[in-house]
Amino acid sequence: MDYQKVFSEMAAEVDYIEDHGKVPSYIPELQNVDPNKFGIHLTTIDGQNFYLGDSNEKFSIQSIAKVFSLVLAFGLEDDRLWERVGVEPSGTPFNSLVQLEYEKGIPRNPFINAGALVICDILVSRLEHPKREILDFVRGVSGNPAIEYCSRVAESEKLTSFTNAALINLMKAYSNIHNDIDVVLDVYFHLCSIEMTCQELAQGLLFLANNGVNPFAEKRVVSESKSKRINAIMQLCGFYDEAGEFSFKVGLPGKSGVGGGIIAIYPGHYSIAVWSPKLNAKGNSYKGMRILEFLTTRTKASIF
Ligand code: DON
Repeated sequence: MDYQKVFSEMAAEVDYIEDHGKVPSYIPELQNVDPNKFGIHLTTIDGQNFYLGDSNEKFSIQSIAKVFSLVLAFGLEDDRLWERVGVEPSGTPFNSLVQLEYEKGIPRNPFINAGALVICDILVSRLEHPKREILDFVRGVSGNPAIEYCSRVAESEKLTSFTNAALINLMKAYSNIHNDIDVVLDVYFHLCSIEMTCQELAQGLLFLANNGVNPFAEKRVVSESKSKRINAIMQLCGFYDEAGEFSFKVGLPGKSGVGGGIIAIYPGHYSIAVWSPKLNAKGNSYKGMRILEFLTTRTKASIF
């Protein structure tokens, strides 16, 4: 596949797409970004790289970090993990409370906020220095020891965290949170505040396109079976109540974040990260989704 040619066409498409998205306001610090930024980076498992725009600029990865925390927790807990969090699509917004009471404090999946909070609780139980070890893990898989949390974003989210506080309190009442609520929330806000570039994200999650092995470091990150399962969860749950739409239009497993980033995985081929800060009504990058649809349509890439 001549990705270079497709990327040249994509440059024109990026300018052509009218962006109907909006930068989110519920985490005030996330508004301090140029809404017209756009970056994309594709990295293949045999070492080719294609990129465009602001692909080397750091942004707040927000919920994309939930893939890293899931990888860590799944590695530590194996199938015991699924006693505390499900693998079903929720069909509800990422911060929804409604299912949680009906389902007695067991979140539908590890990517909605409730599920990611349970994963953070597990990491607090299992790791001696959770924040340091999470960051070390992300640095390790991405090959960049300079990746950092953004304390301004973490602090900003903490000040407006009423819904996440409600979610975690409800789960605590159902005994599905084992640690102190404030400690778990602090880990969660830091996790979401990680800043990375499109290039770092694409390279950091490339192991999911290569059966769990980082092809550059020749290092296994997760087992082949876990890699497949994480991709399955991304396919069904990575975009909350827009997971069907993403599957329908893009056709790859992926994960979005309210910082405007999206990571998508083409198993056996490549990983791709895109960043465009304005979000659609479901909280996913408007232009990011459109451009991934363009790419997979143009290249006929799909897992189906
Ligand atoms: O908890 C929150 O609301 C944010 N830290 C993360 C939400 C998010 O990225 C949802 N993804 N589209």
